[in-house]
Amino acid sequence: MTQEQLNESVDYLKKRGFDTPEIGIVLGTGLGQLVDDIQDSIEAHYNHIPYFPLATVEFHSGKLIYGTIEGKKVVVMQGRFHLYEGYDFVDITYPIRVMHLLGIQKLFVSNAAGAINLDFKKGDIMLIEDHINLQGGSPLAFRNVSSFGNRFVDMSEPYDVDMRKKILSIAEKENITVQKGVYASVVGPQLETKAEYRMIKMMGADAVGMSTVPEVIVANHLQLPIVAVSVLTDECDPDNLEPVNIQEILDIAGKAEPKMIKLFKELIKMI
Ligand code: HPA
Repeated sequence: MTQEQLNESVDYLKKRGFDTPEIGIVLGTGLGQLVDDIQDSIEAHYNHIPYFPLATVEFHSGKLIYGTIEGKKVVVMQGRFHLYEGYDFVDITYPIRVMHLLGIQKLFVSNAAGAINLDFKKGDIMLIEDHINLQGGSPLAFRNVSSFGNRFVDMSEPYDVDMRKKILSIAEKENITVQKGVYASVVGPQLETKAEYRMIKMMGADAVGMSTVPEVIVANHLQLPIVAVSVLTDECDPDNLEPVNIQEILDIAGKAEPKMIKLFKELIKMI
C-alpha cells in the first residue's frame, strides 16, 4: 500500500461522484438491508476500484455505495474483507483508508458475532466498548506504516465515547435492548471449540467474531471516531454447545438487523 495507490482509488471514486461523504458505514455479514435506505445512490464494485483487494468468489457482490441517509452523505461498504479469505491485514483495512481520504469524519461498523456472555441472547445488539485482538497481527505492522503517521497508536479508548452515549440514549428512547461489552476478534473461518469459548470468556470478552478489530485499529491510526455494534447470532455456551448452523446465523442477523438500522439512522440524524 502506498499513498499513490490510495490516491488513485480515491480519484476513481471521486470521478464517479463519491463527493465528500461525512460518514462511512461498514455492513457485516447478513447485514445488508441498510442499503435499501440510501437515496440517490451511486455504486462502485470492489473489483473495479483500483488497488482494492481483488474480490474472491464469496465477495463477488461486494461494493461501495455512496448516497444520502437521513439527509447526510454516506459511503457504505456492502460486504467487507476478512482475514479468513486469505487477505492480509493491510488488504482488509485498505477501504477504511480510502473512505478516510474521501473525507468521512465518522465511521460506523457492524458485525455478526457469537455471544460469549451468556446473559446476552441471540438477536441482541451489543455496543462494543472495547476489544481484544486475537488475530495474531496488526494492520500497523507493515513496512512503510510510519509514512502514514505515528505507529504507536493509543488504544486507551478506541470506541468514541460521545457516539456510544448517543447510541445508548437512542436505544432507550426507541425501546431497543442494547447490551454493552468487549468484542474479541479471531481469524476464523472455523468456529471455536468449547475450550476456545471457555478461554475467550476467561479473557474478559462478551462476544467473538472474525472482523472489526483491524478496521478499528486503522480508524484509530487515522484519528477517525468510530462506533461499532455486534448483532449476536449465536450463544457460545461451552457446556451446551450445539453444532453451528451458518444459515441460522444469517437468519438471526437478518431478523435483528432492523434494530441496528434504527440505531444507525437515528445516530446519523444526531451527528
Ligand atoms: N464465533 C466467531 N464468529 C462468529 C460467531 C462465533 O461464535 N458467531 C458469529 N460470528
